[in-house]
Amino acid sequence: MKTRDEPLIFARSRPGKTGYSLPPLDVEEKVAIPPELLRGEIEGETEVSEVDVARHFTRLSRLNLGIEDGLYPLGSCTMKHNPRINEEMARLPGFAASHPCAPESLTQGNLELMWRLERFLSELTGLPRVTLTPCAGAQGELAGILMVRKALEKRGGPRRYVLIPDSAHGTNPATATFAGYEVRELKSNANGRLDLHVLEEAMTDEVAALMMTVPNTLGIFERRIREIAEIVHRKGGFLYGDGANFNAFVGLANPAAMGIDVMHMNLHKTFSTPHGGGGPGAGPVAVGEALVPHLPIPTVERNPDGTFRLDADRPESVGRLRSFSSQFGVLVRAISYILTYGREIGEVARDAVLNANYIRARLADLYHLKYDAPTMHEVVFSDKRQVEHGIHNGDIAKRLMDYGFPPPTVSFPLIVAGALMIEPTETEGKPELDAFIEAMRAIARETQEKPEIFHDAPYTTPVRRVDEVRAAKNPILRWRPTKSS
Ligand SMILES: Cc1ncc(COP(=O)(O)O)c(C=O)c1O
Repeated sequence: MKTRDEPLIFARSRPGKTGYSLPPLDVEEKVAIPPELLRGEIEGETEVSEVDVARHFTRLSRLNLGIEDGLYPLGSCTMKHNPRINEEMARLPGFAASHPCAPESLTQGNLELMWRLERFLSELTGLPRVTLTPCAGAQGELAGILMVRKALEKRGGPRRYVLIPDSAHGTNPATATFAGYEVRELKSNANGRLDLHVLEEAMTDEVAALMMTVPNTLGIFERRIREIAEIVHRKGGFLYGDGANFNAFVGLANPAAMGIDVMHMNLHKTFSTPHGGGGPGAGPVAVGEALVPHLPIPTVERNPDGTFRLDADRPESVGRLRSFSSQFGVLVRAISYILTYGREIGEVARDAVLNANYIRARLADLYHLKYDAPTMHEVVFSDKRQVEHGIHNGDIAKRLMDYGFPPPTVSFPLIVAGALMIEPTETEGKPELDAFIEAMRAIARETQEKPEIFHDAPYTTPVRRVDEVRAAKNPILRWRPTKSS
């Protein structure tokens, strides 16, 4: 059978098929489900055998392009190879099977791991304390801005605005709004960086914070970040660093020395844990002294006798962000990753930046670069030259699948029309990078020589060109039985 014909699992259902066999119940059924909780017949119950299930999902997994197949260029998403050792550590029964309600006397190892991870992240950011509680980058942002709000309230008032450059990640304005602030957008200059005059003008004593994505979503570093911090601090504001992409400078540059007061990191981007697909994440937030009293609860503390405890008795805290302490498995992977690199962790950043710049240098003659500034961990091209032949960024992304690569991020950041945002990450070697570059070069040639080929691309994938407008306007999110199934 060709894999592209793989039907839905429901279509394999036949009455009476089962994937298990249990002995008949030989004790009295004691706990009956109350009738009001019974929903009656399950509509379209699927009856399949174990082998049906195993083969179905194995076949489906082969229909996908994934990080195990090759370079995954999705920008701002850090789709990298995550070392298996980290998975193994997270699956150790002492970690994986520990219950979040277990008493502290039984979870000392877990607490020590959290305490040590906090010390590592504190050293890497130069900031004294780190909350491990947030379970995503966006939740880390919220924690950070709520701490800023609390600190300002203590000083006299929460203030009204948060400044956000137009090159920031989209979660930043959402966070500031959610935390009760009005957002003021700052326009980038011709180099894709913050214009200091624009900042000076906007930075009043009604501004709570400047939220900067570092490096910004163009993959560009703010060279004058110390001056930026000074301008913000002079008016009593806080500099928030969105360090989701810490892999661009981890171990090489120190956020506290840049003047950053509060910064979240996406462990699921920089410090291992597969990213994407909505899987678990963790967005720890490092903070300077002024924000320490406001850390979310619980924090992890070491007792004078060397044992560890969770501390929820923090009267000035912004409160609890979630149930239990953290996304613990992600923390295990992160500490495993950090310990593997040790003092060499700056290699991660060096390789991530080198790889992005290699792609930039080898494609810059064919793909337009709106901003001519050096790239950090990702590079943003535009489709400007291909548009002359009627080909847009979405067409290029689709055609790339015929060459065996998943699409890059398209149409983001918004300040680059027709953006193609590519992040190779640090885990790719030169042969993989070259294969990707050759594919992009071949596509650029095709846009001139046979543009008509883009109309129906991709040709080689199990699902061909999809109707994206219909998918967005009329999504079918639930399978329902039909007469034929
Ligand atoms: C720069 C930046 N900030 C924030 C986030 C949000 O992180 P999360 O998706 O974990 O909420 C991302 C996500 O990719 C990001 O790239």
